[in-house]
Amino acid sequence: MGAIGIFDSGYGGLTIFDKIQKTLPQYDYVYLGDNARAPYGTRSFDVVCRFTRQAVMKLFDEGCRLVILACNTASAKALRNIQQKDLPQLDPSLRVLGVIRPTVEVIDGISRTKHVGVLGTTGTISSQSYQIEIRHLFPHITVTGEACPMWVPLVENNEFASPGADYFVKKHLVHILSLDPEIDTLILGCTHYPLLLDKIRSFIPADITLFAQGERVAESLADYLIRHPEMDEQLTKRASRRFLTTESVDKFAGTASLFLHQPIEVEQTSIS
Ligand code: DGL
Repeated sequence: MGAIGIFDSGYGGLTIFDKIQKTLPQYDYVYLGDNARAPYGTRSFDVVCRFTRQAVMKLFDEGCRLVILACNTASAKALRNIQQKDLPQLDPSLRVLGVIRPTVEVIDGISRTKHVGVLGTTGTISSQSYQIEIRHLFPHITVTGEACPMWVPLVENNEFASPGADYFVKKHLVHILSLDPEIDTLILGCTHYPLLLDKIRSFIPADITLFAQGERVAESLADYLIRHPEMDEQLTKRASRRFLTTESVDKFAGTASLFLHQPIEVEQTSIS
């Protein structure tokens, strides 16, 4: 028996965790932010795989039975390896789920023009994970990706609402809409980006839908637990929350409160 683990390179996964805890408040959660090694988005495939694997093992060591990679970069680069290579050897009753598949599953119902844009880290966009998954489920949808490498540092450094952020936010929106002017839906394909939502909205036409993943991932997890009672039975339900960071606990507590709108207690941890 154990908790649900939520992993992100830093704070971004809190936008997912917040929606999950509101949808499924009764479960126990352990959130792990690898802030000391964030951002992951500009790192190589091998490094993201290694760091993500270490983080997942840490959450299993902490007693988690199910881990959500609340990070598109980790989902794009490491999820398949962990699911196919690590879990069968470690313990086939453990599970790791990502954020890309649940997002892709609903996108056909959202886009009217069937032209979709994906905003993400360099790692997520260069992996082509969204293109591959969308082509697989909805081959009639045209997908355009845009890497926004400065957006995560803006959020991690609490500059997401500052006027200085305008330049970098506008630049990528103008670029992706020039690549495909028929785009009517932009996926925020990085869990940090919901913090930039107001700014993004101010630079795009009002009829473009901005899709943030939190609610969809929470809904998909709730559905997963109904369809998998064998996993649900392994999960403890005392409504506890633990927050672990590989960086300063004070900095994490301060910034996390911006995401969660409430004070939290944070524990220091190391992963290797
Ligand atoms: N929040 C993560 C994502 O969804 C990645 C941020 C990063 O570490 O670059 O992609």
